[in-house]
Amino acid sequence: MNHILYNDDSRERVKHLPDNSIDLILTDPPYNLSPYSTGNMKFKWRKEINNDLASWDQEDFTPAEWLAEFKRVLKPTGNIFAFCSYNLIGKWHEAFDPAYDTFQFFVYHKTNPVPKFRKAGFLNSCELIVCCWNKGHTWNFGKQSEMHNFYEGPICMGKERLKDPVHPTQKPVKLLSHIIKIASNEGDVVFDPFMGVASTGIAALQNNRNFIGIDTDKAYFKAAEKRIKDYVSQQPLFSIESETEKALKDTPGESVHPLIESLHINMAKSAA
Ligand SMILES: C[S@@+](CC[C@H](N)C(=O)[O-])C[C@H]1O[C@@H](n2cnc3c(N)ncnc32)[C@H](O)[C@@H]1O
Repeated sequence: MNHILYNDDSRERVKHLPDNSIDLILTDPPYNLSPYSTGNMKFKWRKEINNDLASWDQEDFTPAEWLAEFKRVLKPTGNIFAFCSYNLIGKWHEAFDPAYDTFQFFVYHKTNPVPKFRKAGFLNSCELIVCCWNKGHTWNFGKQSEMHNFYEGPICMGKERLKDPVHPTQKPVKLLSHIIKIASNEGDVVFDPFMGVASTGIAALQNNRNFIGIDTDKAYFKAAEKRIKDYVSQQPLFSIESETEKALKDTPGESVHPLIESLHINMAKSAA
């Protein structure tokens, strides 16, 4: 399988992807929760709890601004799954519901969420993921019992959790893998314009899907690149050549990365 990572602003970089080239957009954009934060929580008896997400969360994320590009790059059979905090669900619905046949949500229930020591409200143990598609979309329907819009599991931890840099919202690969298996097929292209440390990328490669990922942050990008390289080098049949060096040079007018080129070729074939 192929992958390509960009250390770039996805609002610009997405414009270089061909029309109808992506099978699954699986992404975890900024939540804009920073205005609600009361700061990190300090304790004498345990390490600080991170309540201030990160500087990337302070920049406005507006779902409506992504509609046109998501529509353009996604194949008619494609699916969109986007993590979404409670404050943005209305904005996602307002922009995306009129544009797709189906708009639903999926719940990720965390079995070990950040505790609330003051017991003055609910734990933030659920995350929402909005999902959209049109009729004829790829859907690997399992048994009824496997098709609940609900997934339960721990937050990303242990060996899987990167230590340097620590990404405050690193998602568990198992959850992403669950979505990828339902909403795409082997050989498909999965796109994450807010990839962080490439958890979606690892899940895509583990399930024999191609991956395109973007993140603006240099430290996260480097960690994503290393994580993917380490994964690929452990697979006996994969080439261990780094794809990202070339990807960084992949600007209009210069040589085009093989994955992007193959997307163009496939598009030309299906148009013929
Ligand atoms: C919620 S985090 C994604 C975490 C990811 N799911 C993981 O498991 O590592 C959102 C990411 O979007 C990135 N980001 C924010 N604005 C961006 C932009 N305009 N272009 C590309 N990346 C951006 C941030 O640097 C951050 O890593």
